[in-house]
Parts: sequence; C-alpha cells; structure tokens
Amino acid sequence: MNGSRVLFKLYMLPYTRVVRREMDLGDICKDDVVLNVGCGSMPFTAALITDLTGAKVVAVDVDGEAVKTARHTISMLGLDDRVEILHADGAGPIGRRFNKAVLALHVEPKDIVVSRLLDDPYVKAVVIRMPRGALMASYGGDRVLSPFAKQVGHLMPTFDRSLLFTQ
Ligand SMILES: C[S@@+](CC[C@H](N)C(=O)[O-])C[C@H]1O[C@@H](n2cnc3c(N)ncnc32)[C@H](O)[C@@H]1O
Repeated sequence: MNGSRVLFKLYMLPYTRVVRREMDLGDICKDDVVLNVGCGSMPFTAALITDLTGAKVVAVDVDGEAVKTARHTISMLGLDDRVEILHADGAGPIGRRFNKAVLALHVEPKDIVVSRLLDDPYVKAVVIRMPRGALMASYGGDRVLSPFAKQVGHLMPTFDRSLLFTQ
C-alpha cells in the first residue's frame, strides 16, 4: 500500500463505526445502490459503504474541485468499479438510479434534500447525520423534516446521531 492509501485509511478509521451503524440503520446490503450526498474530496463514507456492505455507491458533491479529488482518491483505492463520483446537487436530478441514500453532516438544505429524495418512489431509506446541539443551526440541522423512523447515536465531535427517513 502506498503512503497516500495508508493515510486515507488512517483518516477513515473514525468513520468506520459510524458508517457500520448507519448501514444497520438503513438495512443497507450488497443488493442496494446507495447515493452518498456530500462525499467531499476525501470520500470516507462512500468508500466505507462499499467496503462494509458490497453495495454500489453513487457519490455526489456540489463542489467541482472536491469531485476531481474524490475521483482521484477512489481510483487510488481501486474502487472505480464500485464507487462512481458525480458533480451534482443532492437536491436536484442525479441521473442515476439508487434505492438508498446516506447524507453527510454538511449537506444543505437538509429538509429539501431529504424530501426530494423521498419523492422518488424507488428510494426506500434516507440516512442523515445530525449536528451536536450547539452546532445545530450552523449545520442547518434545524431544517430537518420530521418524523423520522429510527436513529442511532455516534461519538463524533461534530455529530452525535444519524436519522433514518423512510417512505
Ligand atoms: C466536508 S464533506 C464531508 C464528507 C466526508 N468526507 C464523508 O466521507 O462523509 C461535505 C460535503 O458536502 C457537500 N455538500 C453540501 N451540500 C450538498 C448538496 N446539497 N449536494 C451535494 N453536496 C453537498 C459540500 O460541498 C462538502 O464537500
């Protein structure tokens, strides 16, 4: 493994428990195609979704520079056949078929993205990370639709739970 891969895997470690719990929450398995909204330039979540479940992942970000770096990272990890990175807004058309979605903490506007995804009858589960109390407004957490179906807790500095929305 070269240095960049080792570093990526090290930085990815804190997300492993988070994503494992999210996969259980959304009942995500290898037969699913998962949209990851807000993959960022270091697509830890996208890589972990496929590593932990075998599911195919379509990962999107509104930031074109982040998309370029994320594509490079996914190639470096040898995941090109399992993770596709697209430049798109999670609130708009994605141009791909998927049946589950996992949203990053930073995704905005959370309420619009969640409700647009659930408008698609093919989408059975949407999982979204929620900011800790003091950070709620700065991450737009006060704009999440309710009611949600279930939640799991996390021990991360900026977010402390993920919510599951279903059809
Ligand atoms: C900082 S990254 C964090 C991702 C983290 N590395 C992971 O693996 O989960 C969050 C990204 O969400 C993106 N983002 C925010 N709102 C979005 C939206 N509506 N659609 C797509 N991407 C969005 C931002 O551009 C940012 O790059």
